[in-house]
Amino acid sequence: ITKNETKMKIGYVQNNPLFGQKEKNFEEIMQLTKGIKADVLVLSELFATGYTFTSKSEAKALAETADGETAQFLKQLSVETGATIVAGFIEKENEMVYNSSIIIDGNTVIDTYQKIHLFNRETLWFDVSNNPLKVYDIKGIKLGVMICFDWFFPEVCRELTLQGMQLLAHPSNLVLPYCQKAMVTRCLENRIFAITANRIGNEKRGDDDFTFTGASQITAPNG
Ligand code: ACM
Repeated sequence: ITKNETKMKIGYVQNNPLFGQKEKNFEEIMQLTKGIKADVLVLSELFATGYTFTSKSEAKALAETADGETAQFLKQLSVETGATIVAGFIEKENEMVYNSSIIIDGNTVIDTYQKIHLFNRETLWFDVSNNPLKVYDIKGIKLGVMICFDWFFPEVCRELTLQGMQLLAHPSNLVLPYCQKAMVTRCLENRIFAITANRIGNEKRGDDDFTFTGASQITAPNG
């Protein structure tokens, strides 16, 4: 990060979640991050549950509050790696169900971001949030968060940049081949760094048959 000459070690975890098996997915993340120390680590969208639901009630059954078991696991991961963690989960808030990311530092839950632009059939599984986009002061820099398909709308990165964002955390479950290329433009036009943490694998459930494109990417302001 050059704007204020901060040096950071940043990374992502690219996983292949087993649908609905949180404990096994937590274990995989622990194995993938064994011995890793970093300042910021980004995990994929819905990293512990899988992505492809067949109904809202199915998503709701795997949803948690911001102090649920996924948050507890991520606190442990944050303490062990030293990293601020941004990771996707299904958030239950009152009667609403959101495709969210949680931002955790040590044993503190800093906030959640509820995905604004739901992709395809996600509109059947999740509620849309009206919460504002925000940036967070993390380790001397300003961190912004968006989720997967938010990339398609340049206004998201722009709005976060206008709030001072230097580093974007971007948990993803990408199924189209365009985002990794688009992030080069997002970073060039906004002069930001971005961590796109994608998943791999296939989910064939209900009417959907998704193959996730992997190729997670850290993109610099020079593209
Ligand atoms: C997506 O937003 N998960 C494609």
